Amino acid sequence: MLNWEDPLANARPAPAARKQPALLADEALQPSVQPRTPPPREASGQAQQNSTQPRPATRAHAEGGATGLEDLALGAGRIRVDDKRIINCHADLNQLVPFKYDWAWQKYLDACANHWMPQEINMNADIALWKDPNGLTDDERTIIKRNLGFFSTADSLVANNLVLAVYRHITNPECRQYLLRQAFEEALHTHAYQYVVESLGLDEGEIFNMYREVPSVARKAEWALPYTQYLADPHFHTGTQENDQKLLRELVAFYIVFEGLFFYVGFVQVLSMGRRNKMTGTAEQFQYILRDESMHMNFGIDVINQIKLENPHLWTDDFKQELIAMIRDAVQLEAEYAHETMPRGVLGLNAAMFEEYLQFIANRRCAQIGLPEQYAEVGNPFPWMSEVLDLKKEKNFFETRVTEYQTGGALNWD
Ligand SMILES: [Fe+2]
Ligand SMILES: [Fe+2]
Repeated sequence: MLNWEDPLANARPAPAARKQPALLADEALQPSVQPRTPPPREASGQAQQNSTQPRPATRAHAEGGATGLEDLALGAGRIRVDDKRIINCHADLNQLVPFKYDWAWQKYLDACANHWMPQEINMNADIALWKDPNGLTDDERTIIKRNLGFFSTADSLVANNLVLAVYRHITNPECRQYLLRQAFEEALHTHAYQYVVESLGLDEGEIFNMYREVPSVARKAEWALPYTQYLADPHFHTGTQENDQKLLRELVAFYIVFEGLFFYVGFVQVLSMGRRNKMTGTAEQFQYILRDESMHMNFGIDVINQIKLENPHLWTDDFKQELIAMIRDAVQLEAEYAHETMPRGVLGLNAAMFEEYLQFIANRRCAQIGLPEQYAEVGNPFPWMSEVLDLKKEKNFFETRVTEYQTGGALNWD
């Protein structure tokens, strides 16, 4: 059985990939830091044949793009790659192909390959430890409960933001395909927290109400909610510089700040317990969630960069300064969360280490969307976080799960 402290060489055969120990957790996956422009594709023969016909007519808004709910445009020309745009696109959104944004489709495939379910993870050791009066310190119990309180509702906020706000304004089928997968994963995450709460016999009311009863948890939700609220307004449409910037600002708020910064103190705290063989089932749930979240964030970075690429007029100096101020403000808020969740230090961690870690990942987040790094001379105090992400189905740290997913094979029609 592998242990968190085992040398990585025992677990993976690819040392060459680990030459940069300061890599962030999300970099162990498949991010695309730089904006990418897919090479233009040749239209298919049929599409070429139809290329002189009018583009598909959609009953689009005066502002914004298609929704996918327009009346059928019978006899209209076929969709071409060049018709596709990530926002404000007026081409039919109900046709996945031809692909334009290969990175979005690839992330959808990768996410499906990472499928997991919370109830596959063995929680017996956690239950025994939690019930043992001497099993955990009060500070360790606070860490578990506080993070379950934050994440159990944070993932719901993210899911609602995706389904009720973001999805409508991303006018591209392959990106929407990934958004649908992401929305399901957010449901899985909420399921995982509920499963831990139920397994440990915690007070559901206490955990699920923390986001409006415990100030350090509530402040993060309060920070994020305004960004999604105006985008979910049915009267809001993209298509003007001001509104397109609102969409971009909201994507940075949720993908870069909420999922890319606000989750990371909690991830480090819970995963640190797993590294010390405490609450290993809960830690394993968080490992799978961290892997999913890293991909969510990398998808968000790709979307942000693609919007910039197609709409360079949005990326003004004033707008960049506004985003930088937003990110710096969020680092401060998350550092306060670290102080309040572990005022005395625990598990060999202390709030000062978290502050440096947050500054370190904020620098990376800035660079990934083309903003200057904000914090000088900061290092990564938790390089093991990137190792955690190398979890493989067949080689997880606790060997509690061997499920391979199949479809069809288990069906019995008799
Ligand atoms: Fe999530
Ligand atoms: Fe997420």
